[in-house]
Amino acid sequence: MGSLFSNSITLRKSVRISDEEFVQLRDFIYEKSGIFVDEKRKYLFESRFSKRLAELRLNSFSEYIKYLKFDAMKHQELTKLFELVTTNETSFYRDIPQLKAFQEKVLKEKLDEQRDAGKLELNIWSAGCSSGEEPYTLSIMLHELLRMELARWKISITAVDLSPAMIEHAQKGVYKEYAFKTTPDEIKARYFTEVEDGWKIKPPVTRLVNFRQMNLNETPSLKRIPRSHVVFCRNVIIYFDLDMKKRVVSSFYDNLLPGGYMMLGHSETLHKISSSFKPVYHPGTIAYRKED
Ligand SMILES: C[S@@+](CC[C@H](N)C(=O)[O-])C[C@H]1O[C@@H](n2cnc3c(N)ncnc32)[C@H](O)[C@@H]1O
Repeated sequence: MGSLFSNSITLRKSVRISDEEFVQLRDFIYEKSGIFVDEKRKYLFESRFSKRLAELRLNSFSEYIKYLKFDAMKHQELTKLFELVTTNETSFYRDIPQLKAFQEKVLKEKLDEQRDAGKLELNIWSAGCSSGEEPYTLSIMLHELLRMELARWKISITAVDLSPAMIEHAQKGVYKEYAFKTTPDEIKARYFTEVEDGWKIKPPVTRLVNFRQMNLNETPSLKRIPRSHVVFCRNVIIYFDLDMKKRVVSSFYDNLLPGGYMMLGHSETLHKISSSFKPVYHPGTIAYRKED
């Protein structure tokens, strides 16, 4: 099955993908997830999928495409496929300048507005939350800002991701050292407990966050997310083509309450995607506002 054995090390020959197979698999992935794989990354398919093909005892990508489309296990395989094509890179306190501006300007403004309106409620949506570091960071920031006042607030952070494995990891809430590479030491000490296999997030932080497995490509399901004051979607739309970017951003726009904000990753912009939002410039970030 394409495996070469040398001593105890298994060297697996990667299965070659033809141009035609690449286009078929790329289009299938796009149709199911909105993720667009550029031709330049064709070699990635060969390196990432060879192990999976061997596990399934398939000899070619054509056989794998048939399996994905017609096999009785096709739904389960879709999950595996998503796990092979997505990048789940994330960490706590990722992009500190952006988060600082978010905490001090955007979040503060929203909390003040809600207090003035006598509604101590706040909804945040973290779309493409990976293993949970982003929504938990937002929960920690709310704890830091509100302290004792938090008990009087009704706060909900809805965190969704395509990958069931990432959602499971997030719900477990245990992280290795790597996840804290940009986290201030005092935050780690205050909100995490050391356990055998890493650091576990403390219950007050997890209580604000609800995780759900969800595909941003399935527009009708997105309508079930509670209306939000803020949507975080960082380092996710970068993997989509223009059409999918437009659809997803339009769903965020519809979900946001008037005056709500959308936050993107530092390399992402709304250029050519949407002109519905007002960009609000802060040192370290742009917050995209849905006008009242
Ligand atoms: C690079 S991570 C970003 C995590 C986090 N937002 C951050 O910035 O640290 C991208 C995440 O988007 C998720 N993703 C990609 N396509 C998706 C889709 N169609 N629906 C939901 N999540 C998706 C991936 O599973 C992955 O966990």
